[in-house]
Amino acid sequence: MTVALATFAAFPEGSDDVVALRAALAGLGVAAVPAIWDDPDIDWAAFDLVVVRSTWDYTDRRAEFLAWADGVPRLLNDAAVLRWNTDKRYLRDLAGAGVPVVPTLWDPPDPPADWPEYVIKPAVSSGSRDTARWRAGEEDRAREHLRALLSAGRTAMVQPYLSAIDTAGETALLFCDREFSHAARKAPILAAGTGVLDAPNGGQITAASATPEQLAVAHRALEAVSGDLLYARVDLVPDPDGSPVLMELELTEPALFLEHAPGSAARFAEAIAERL
Ligand SMILES: Nc1ncnc2c1ncn2[C@@H]1O[C@H](COP(=O)(O)OP(=O)(O)O)[C@@H](O)[C@H]1O
Ligand SMILES: [Mg+2]
Repeated sequence: MTVALATFAAFPEGSDDVVALRAALAGLGVAAVPAIWDDPDIDWAAFDLVVVRSTWDYTDRRAEFLAWADGVPRLLNDAAVLRWNTDKRYLRDLAGAGVPVVPTLWDPPDPPADWPEYVIKPAVSSGSRDTARWRAGEEDRAREHLRALLSAGRTAMVQPYLSAIDTAGETALLFCDREFSHAARKAPILAAGTGVLDAPNGGQITAASATPEQLAVAHRALEAVSGDLLYARVDLVPDPDGSPVLMELELTEPALFLEHAPGSAARFAEAIAERL
């Protein structure tokens, strides 16, 4: 029995999660190897299961990535989930299903003139790429950002900047087989007023706990998705009223923050072993 943990060329050994997962799987007698998703020499049918993990370069090559997923016989999360989840337009489906999501303008021709602070980002992205935070008075640069996305044929999203993230952070709720596993807090990433990434401390991860209100939103989001979800991450931020709203439902290649939650790697390893 061999499991492949799909990663990308810049991380041939996989992320920290992959290291933790391999160790936990080894404890169950399951061999797991990191494998680069676009390596042409890999026979994916030779694995008993392929688990998508750190395939973080798919955003510029989404069609190629989905074609790869379609061709892997046993893949989790599966290709249909990946197809839906790699484009943040899925947030519209979730909003339609009654999940509170961050209010979003889709492909507006211009930045909002009357919003004090907002975020512009592409619908297909990960790791905050091509994402920036703008303030009233910065319309020229914001418009340039928006036009650059639109003229590249990308779907652009404009959202109010949820400033509670500056104090409360973003809460990530991790689910294994649709069961809550653990939570983590991600520090804010976007620097104020500059429209550029705040590289050094942005996104720093610490252990956290989940409130009943956060868990309720997360469960509602997961209930709106069908299919076999080996892993899921629900990213929530408080809205101006303090209620958790969904920023992202990551079913493709979420960092699981296993090293921040003792016992969590074993949980995911068992869920993988059960499928073999
Ligand atoms: N509306 C928003 N309000 C506050 N921060 C935001 C907002 N949208 C994005 N961000 C920040 O940008 C980061 C990346 O955005 P996100 O939507 O999670 O896309 P991805 O993680 O796929 O790049 C978030 O983790 C958060 O720090
Ligand atoms: Mg995110």
